[in-house]
Amino acid sequence: MPNHIDTQHFWMPFTANRAFKEKPRLLVGASGMYYTSDDGRKILDGTSGLWCVNAGHNHPKIVEAIQQQAAVLDYAPTFQMGHPKAFEAASKLVSIAPTRLNRVFFCSDGSESVDSALKIALAYHRVRGDGLRQRLIGRERGYHGVGFGGISVGGIAGNRKHFGPGLPGVDHLRHPLDIAQNAFTRGLPQRGAELADELESRLLALHDPTTIAAVIVEPIQGSTGVILPPQGYLQKLRATCDKYGILLIFDEVITGFGRLGTAFGADYFGVVPDMITCAKGLTNAAVPMGAVLVKQEIHDAFMAAAADNAIEFFHGYTYSGHPLAAAAAIAAIDVYQDEGLFERAAAMAPYFEDAAHSLRGLPYVKDIRNLGLLCGIELESMPGKPTARAADIFLKCFWEKGVLIRTTGDIIALSPPLIIEHAQVDQLFAALSETLKTL
Ligand SMILES: Cc1ncc(COP(=O)(O)O)c(C=O)c1O
Repeated sequence: MPNHIDTQHFWMPFTANRAFKEKPRLLVGASGMYYTSDDGRKILDGTSGLWCVNAGHNHPKIVEAIQQQAAVLDYAPTFQMGHPKAFEAASKLVSIAPTRLNRVFFCSDGSESVDSALKIALAYHRVRGDGLRQRLIGRERGYHGVGFGGISVGGIAGNRKHFGPGLPGVDHLRHPLDIAQNAFTRGLPQRGAELADELESRLLALHDPTTIAAVIVEPIQGSTGVILPPQGYLQKLRATCDKYGILLIFDEVITGFGRLGTAFGADYFGVVPDMITCAKGLTNAAVPMGAVLVKQEIHDAFMAAAADNAIEFFHGYTYSGHPLAAAAAIAAIDVYQDEGLFERAAAMAPYFEDAAHSLRGLPYVKDIRNLGLLCGIELESMPGKPTARAADIFLKCFWEKGVLIRTTGDIIALSPPLIIEHAQVDQLFAALSETLKTL
C-alpha cells in the first residue's frame, strides 16, 4: 500500500473499517473484466463491482459520453428547469422497459429510487382520494437500500436494529428460501410458491386490504444471498395485488439491465409490476443514478389531481437527471443494445450454471442457487463464527487467486459483468473450487 495514502479519514460504508485499514485492499484501475490492484495485480471481477458494472469496466463509449457531457453542461437543475439529456435518458430507459412503465422519476441511487417509489405509491392513493392506503408490505431478507423507507420495508436485522422503529404500518412477507426442500436447484425452485398466498391469507387478513398501498419485493433477493422466487410465486403476488388494488413494486436494482438475460427481471418472469426501481447498471455505475419506472396511469393520476400550474408531486433531488448521469445512462443502454449484452448473458447462463453447480460436493457447500449471470453459494458456517468461513474465502480469492467475489453472511454471491468469457467463468469457479478444497 503506497505510504502516502492516509486511510484514517474515510469512514467506509458496510465495511469492517479497523480490519480493512490494517491491510487495505485497494483498486486503482479497471478495464473490461478486470480491476488493477495497487500492487499491480489484475483482479478478475466476479461481482461487477457491486452488481453494477454490467457492460464491463471503463467502456470507451460510456467514458467518452461522460467526458463530452462534462465539457458541455456540467450541471443544470431539473426543478422548474430542464436540459435535453435528462429527457433523452428517460426516453431511452423507457425504450427497454416493460410496456406501460413509460414514466421515469430520476434520483441518484438505488436507495433513493426505493424511497421515491414508496412515496409515489402512498401519494398515488392519496391523490385518487384513497388516502386510507398507508401500509407498505416488504419481505424478510429483502434489501431495499439504506433510506428510512428502504430499511423499513427491507428485512435485514442488522440494517434496522440501530435506527429506531422505522416507518409505521409496515409488515413483511416471509422470504422464500427453503434449503431443506430446494437445495441445489438449477434455476427457479419448484416448491414454495404457496408462500405468496400469505399475502392474502395472513397480511391482508390481518390489516385489511383497503389499508395497503403497495407491496415491494426484489424479484430475486440479491444482497441476502441470491434467494430465488419459487416457480409461480411472483405471478401469485401480482394476482393478489390486482385483486385488491394494491400496487406491486419490483426492486430491480440488481436484476435490471441484463442480469437475468433480459432487460428487467419483470421480462424474465413475465410479470409486469406497477413500478420498477433501478440504479446500478442504469449508467453501468460510471456515474451514480437511480430511477423509478412508473406506469403511465399512476403518473397521470398526479397530473389530473393538481391545479393548473401547481407542482404535482412534492419530491425530487438536486441531482435528479444530472447531466453526467443522463449521458452515462444513454451511452450504457446504447452499449447494452449495440453489443447485445442481455442476449449474451442469456447465452452464457447455462455455462455459468454448470460451472456454479460443479462446486457441489466440495467441503462446506450446502446450497447453490443460480439464474442468469447470478449465483449464490451457501456454506455451512463455522460453529460460533457466522460469516467467518465466507470471509476467509473472500480474502484468499483476492490475495491468492486474483479474483474478486462478494460475500453476505456465509454465502458467496457472484454477478460478473455480462461480457464474461468462458475462460473467465472457468477462472472464477476454479479459484473458488481450489480455495474451498484448502479449507
Ligand atoms: C435491491 C436493491 N435495492 C436497493 C439497493 C440500494 O442501492 P444503493 O446502494 O445504490 O443505494 C440495492 C443495493 O445493492 C439493492 O440491491
